[in-house]
Amino acid sequence: MSRSERKWDHIRYALETGQKRLTAFDDIQFIHQSLPNINVSDVSIHQKIGGLSFSSPIFINAMTGGGGDKTYSLNKQLAMVAGEAGLAIAVGSQMSALKDKSERYTYEVVRKENPSGVLIANLGSEATPDLAKAAIEMIEANALQIHLNVIQELAMPEGDREFSGALSRIEKIVKEVNVPVIVKEVGFGMCKETVESLSSVGVSVVDVGGFGGTNFAEIENKRSDKSKAFFNQWGIPTAISISEAAHASMPLTIIGSGGFSSSIDIAKGLALGASAVGFAGYFLKILVEEGIDALQEEISSIHHGLKIIMTSLGAKSILDLQSAPLIISGQMHHWLTQRGIDTKTYSQRTIK
Ligand code: FNR
Repeated sequence: MSRSERKWDHIRYALETGQKRLTAFDDIQFIHQSLPNINVSDVSIHQKIGGLSFSSPIFINAMTGGGGDKTYSLNKQLAMVAGEAGLAIAVGSQMSALKDKSERYTYEVVRKENPSGVLIANLGSEATPDLAKAAIEMIEANALQIHLNVIQELAMPEGDREFSGALSRIEKIVKEVNVPVIVKEVGFGMCKETVESLSSVGVSVVDVGGFGGTNFAEIENKRSDKSKAFFNQWGIPTAISISEAAHASMPLTIIGSGGFSSSIDIAKGLALGASAVGFAGYFLKILVEEGIDALQEEISSIHHGLKIIMTSLGAKSILDLQSAPLIISGQMHHWLTQRGIDTKTYSQRTIK
């Protein structure tokens, strides 16, 4: 099967398997405030990350490119939505276009549609600094994502079986490229120790890419005859992964992603310690099944919902929201307790 056919398979099965919402956000509750003492008009959802200013804390995460006209069209539409809504947007892995120049247009369209937007390039951890520079140059990217997808590769019959040396390759890329490097998972989450290892080689932004949304083990198992079903439940739920990353010994910028589909989960993700939230499968499904206008409407509705939730909590800014008190129960409480993370750091704080 060609790389381009595989890209389309991923889209098809991602739409079919959908989002299971096993993210652990249901284990979190905000503490109701009867006297928030602010107005909806006081609330700003602007966010600053690494010197860049954004009108929203959400962005469109890496999905596609490299599969000919179909992926060109999806990237074009996603870029139009991102431009209209002022969201940053990541492209899917650019390795196919680095190997086959005829696929470049499927990625370049994102910059063409979005000349002044924040665009994020994407490659796997097998990349060298030269390939990373070429991917950045291809779309004049403002940042680079390096994805970690060991479980997906292992579940894929034709996937990689060699994973040694990834951390030192990432270190070289961080040293040699001149844009911020975001290391991301693809739906299996990152634990505190992984985040600490990345931080030790100079990575300053991680996207936890947690479990509970698009499930690449399930997708690969649908594509193959030899099911590795034991990976279908594998991974760190998104909410737990954000908290693990927030308790790493060195502070770094955390992006939450994996299974986001609502304003309330965005608010919870930010309150747990994320600075931004990435959407992939949920946006793709709306775009493909309902069209570009429906996706634009959903993004406005998500932004409005977030402002309403922040108002109810008395949070005027994302920074305020990040100190809103939370009660964590159930599986998430159990996990964090086992991992030595004190949930009172969330339950006993207040917005100043
Ligand atoms: C992805 N994702 C992804 N990630 C990446 O770093 N490079 C890639 O090429 C792709 N390709 C891709 C294709 C499709 C069809 C989907 C749905 C997703 C993973 C994506 O960025 C994200 O990490 C996961 O999908 C989890 O987030 P959601 O989908 O649950 O919001």
